[in-house]
Amino acid sequence: MSFGKNSTEPYVQVGNSGLFVYRVGLGTMQFGWSADEAAANAVMNTYVEHGGNFIDTADCYSSWSNALGGPENPGGVSEEMIGRWLATQNRYDIVLATKVRAAMGMQFCDSRATFKQREGLSRRWIIKSCEDSLRRLNTDYIDLYQAHFIDPLIPIEETLSAFTDLVRQGKVRYMGCSNFSAWRLMQALWTSDKNNLESFISLQPEYNLLSPTRGDFETELAQVCENYGLGVIPYSPLAGGVLTGKYRRGKELPQSVRAEENAERRFSEQNWNIIETLVSVAERNAMTPAQAAINWLRAKPVVTAPIIGANSPEQLISVLNGLDKKLSAADVDELDQASDFHRPRTSLET
Ligand SMILES: NC(=O)c1ccc[n+]([C@@H]2O[C@H](COP(=O)([O-])OP(=O)(O)OC[C@H]3O[C@@H](n4cnc5c(N)ncnc54)[C@H](OP(=O)(O)O)[C@@H]3O)[C@@H](O)[C@H]2O)c1
Repeated sequence: MSFGKNSTEPYVQVGNSGLFVYRVGLGTMQFGWSADEAAANAVMNTYVEHGGNFIDTADCYSSWSNALGGPENPGGVSEEMIGRWLATQNRYDIVLATKVRAAMGMQFCDSRATFKQREGLSRRWIIKSCEDSLRRLNTDYIDLYQAHFIDPLIPIEETLSAFTDLVRQGKVRYMGCSNFSAWRLMQALWTSDKNNLESFISLQPEYNLLSPTRGDFETELAQVCENYGLGVIPYSPLAGGVLTGKYRRGKELPQSVRAEENAERRFSEQNWNIIETLVSVAERNAMTPAQAAINWLRAKPVVTAPIIGANSPEQLISVLNGLDKKLSAADVDELDQASDFHRPRTSLET
């Protein structure tokens, strides 16, 4: 059976669940890294003023800040900023998503064994992390609690049973996962079903025109999500800013704490060709490249709501201003073809 995306524009239903979110989510990995608290508040205020209700964070954001050009940050800072801002809002109007799994910092650990107690998807760590996130977020429930990525050491039954307890205690409304492969996701859905546990309602994959995992997503994960009614909320829709048009072949890097990492991960001859196609499709449609990149994703029926990141209200507004514009099927096809080398080809592809 196949389930379509139910839309009540500008809000969309997350898969087959009862959760409705704005057509783009607001990512907050930037908060405490490339955006200070004043900028974070301005970005969140701008987002809700434009009708946004869906805010995505993670316990660990952004523990890597110091290593990547930002201030010292042990993790938890993004959640704390959101928590203080949330006190100024009507809590029920906001759909708040966070995540558990990543390490909160080696500085607390004296051994590898201690480190393993402070990360992962064990019952012990999930329950502690959830309590910590609730405290930092200044709320008594999380709308969408996500397994950030798989923990191969922990049986999936243990992870799902801990998530289920949190749902049944009312601390979590819905549970989702991120960065799972198709077989891991199927295993989780089957395990929930078999053991009468709560199920994941959403997947948060990296999915954008430059994503090296685009092929895995389109040929495998998208089929699982469509067939089992999961919402898809892709992260890094602008490939960390590379799809905004400010990164161009042969030009100097733009001012950004992410510029060097972007150059390392994303600069290649093939990606420059994709960017050139994106720029020309965008110009033809009176869109910015960022608007075209987001609208390419939104044209995919399996996509529920991309999660965008912004350091300022201006960046956010320029993306939001493009949401009512649409790419034609021919434009979507041209962009698909331009980045088609990312897709693995199998003779059994269906
Ligand atoms: N589940 C996971 O494993 C995972 C992983 C990564 C992210 N995420 C989530 O997804 C969210 C979005 O990811 P992302 O930050 O990588 O998203 P993105 O949308 O691909 O990139 C956002 C970056 O692009 C630049 N930008 C945004 N709008 C712009 C504009 N209009 N003009 C020029 N530059 C612009 C900004 O960086 P500069 O100003 O620095 O150029 C901004 O930080 C995160 O905040 C987080 O919530 C999840």
